[in-house]
Amino acid sequence: MPFAFRHPFWLLMVASLLALRAAGQEPLKVGEVASLTGKEGTFGQSSHKGTLLAVEKLNAGGGLLGRKIELVTEDNQSKQGESATATRKLISRDKVIAVLGEVASSRSLEMAPLAQAAHVPMISPSSTNPKVTAIGDYIFRVCFIDPFQGTVMAKFARDTLHLRRVAVLDSVSSAYSVGLAKYFKAGFAAGGGTIALEQKYSEGDKDFKAQLTVIKAAGVDGIFVPGYYTEAALICRQARQLGLDYPIFGGDGWEGSPLLEIGGKAVEGIYYSTHYSPENQAPAVQAFVRDFQARFGGEIPDAMAALGYDSAMVLADAVRRAGTTEGDKVRDALAATKDYPGVTGSTTIDAQRNASKAAAIFTVQDGKFKFVESIAP
Ligand code: PHE
Repeated sequence: MPFAFRHPFWLLMVASLLALRAAGQEPLKVGEVASLTGKEGTFGQSSHKGTLLAVEKLNAGGGLLGRKIELVTEDNQSKQGESATATRKLISRDKVIAVLGEVASSRSLEMAPLAQAAHVPMISPSSTNPKVTAIGDYIFRVCFIDPFQGTVMAKFARDTLHLRRVAVLDSVSSAYSVGLAKYFKAGFAAGGGTIALEQKYSEGDKDFKAQLTVIKAAGVDGIFVPGYYTEAALICRQARQLGLDYPIFGGDGWEGSPLLEIGGKAVEGIYYSTHYSPENQAPAVQAFVRDFQARFGGEIPDAMAALGYDSAMVLADAVRRAGTTEGDKVRDALAATKDYPGVTGSTTIDAQRNASKAAAIFTVQDGKFKFVESIAP
């Protein structure tokens, strides 16, 4: 049989065209820095799962600009210094087109100067400290910021919990904690309440009895603890042991199953604010909850998962509008994000590169998180 029939010319053409296409079809690398292990492991795991779900969904729909997306994830082990190292790697080794992360504000603050210097757009899904996006014009977030969250909890404390005189117990080694304490205090005082005293701790502390004893002596009717779930749960336990039975409440850093596991009965009746509720019946939220549960063994997505998902989707939307992955063009497109419909609400990036969204207040009842109310900006 003549050669041309066994190996028809057109087949060779198609094969080489495919090869050419494949060569030009390297995946687009998107970096992610998360605390997949360590003290804030559930933050990182949740955020990562949400981000991954978004990337898989985008890839199933053909990817971005005709290319697949490859999510390159670095674990910072919840350790100080590791987020900077991870970001450096993602930028110089992997040449990522953008970086997603971190959850914790102190860690986003490690990443942001590096992303800014390299002109690689960075989106924090859930860091709420205002300083994060103030680092530069390549740094964005898709969540609300702490001046809002602090005001929400100050109003809630006064108007719903009817507290008049409270103590604040915050972590000196967390930018998030220090900032949220400041905005809460300002909001509570502005509403006519009294901040009787402020006590301090550091990330990783396990014994809070000294601070709680001072608080007990001050005769307050509530304690605001702007911190992360591990310390918050221990603080609740030790406060109850000392006989303090008044409301203890915090912000989004309280969200995570360890709060319930470590806190047990001591966290019954606490309150905290966060970014979304899986009970929200909006079709976009319910579709997300369904997809997430199907993908991750029935797990109900929390706020970090929802924000992780939205961060990747907002990036994809910007890249599509930019029509390129060039950093400065993607930056401009991100800055122009308007009314992007996400799981955590509509995202519009303001002049400070922040978003403005409703806060959801939760309590713990019978060992479970329970949605209380939503507060619009
Ligand atoms: N907002 C927190 C911070 O800035 C992180 C966080 C976000 C925690 C969402 C829980 C849920 O550090």
